[in-house]
Amino acid sequence: MQELFVPLAVESFRRDGGRQPGETRCFSPLANVTVREARPRLGARDVPLMAETDIAVVEAVIGSDLYRQSLRLREAILRAPLGLSLTQEELADDVTRQHFCAIFQGIAVGTVSLKPLDEATLQLKQMAVAEDRRRERIGARLLTHAEVWGRGAGFRLMVLHARIGADGFYARFGYLAEGDPFEENTLPHVKMSKPLG
Ligand SMILES: CC(C)(COP(=O)(O)OP(=O)(O)OC[C@H]1O[C@@H](n2cnc3c(N)ncnc32)[C@H](O)[C@@H]1OP(=O)(O)O)[C@@H](O)C(=O)NCCC(=O)NCCS
Repeated sequence: MQELFVPLAVESFRRDGGRQPGETRCFSPLANVTVREARPRLGARDVPLMAETDIAVVEAVIGSDLYRQSLRLREAILRAPLGLSLTQEELADDVTRQHFCAIFQGIAVGTVSLKPLDEATLQLKQMAVAEDRRRERIGARLLTHAEVWGRGAGFRLMVLHARIGADGFYARFGYLAEGDPFEENTLPHVKMSKPLG
């Protein structure tokens, strides 16, 4: 097999639209990558061409490959460590929910689901980011996407059951805790909510 080396180095993910002299931008629905010709360095090897992509948040339609990936993330992150599995009841309820995935190079690295409770209220459920991709703002992207989607669909309030430990994450985005902690799926949780108005 032939190895492909080109004199390019991935310089940065550039979300601000800025561009430096000598940079080339590559666009695809999943990519927003800036590459720059590698500066010649004494003894430096050519760098392999990397198909780096940014994170995109997309809908995971039930029955799609992406939905199956989201189920694997939910099982691996939210259930297996607790000795639990997604139940048939939960899977059946999935048809009432909207599902989104954060994807990197076509692979789901985060997921979230939204369940309408009534005309005004949306419940955020099953928020999970792959363990090796945490603290990269993927959770923030999913949460923001969920809120924008909810607002656009006419919902006025987002509610959720936060695991104690993850409640600080939601608090950073303006969610307020209410009531006493309670147990769900063997872990203590607290109710949180945020107006979408
Ligand atoms: C909670 C979780 C979704 C956060 O996702 P993430 O991609 O790591 O979070 P982000 O990188 O987007 O973090 C955004 C901000 O929240 C902060 N944050 C992230 N996790 C946090 C936590 N557990 N407690 C307090 N703050 C947290 C980050 O430091 C960052 O702060 P900043 O805006 O000041 O920089 C992720 O840790 C996860 O999947 N955990 C396991 C499953 C879980 O607990 N899900 C929630 C069920 S209710």
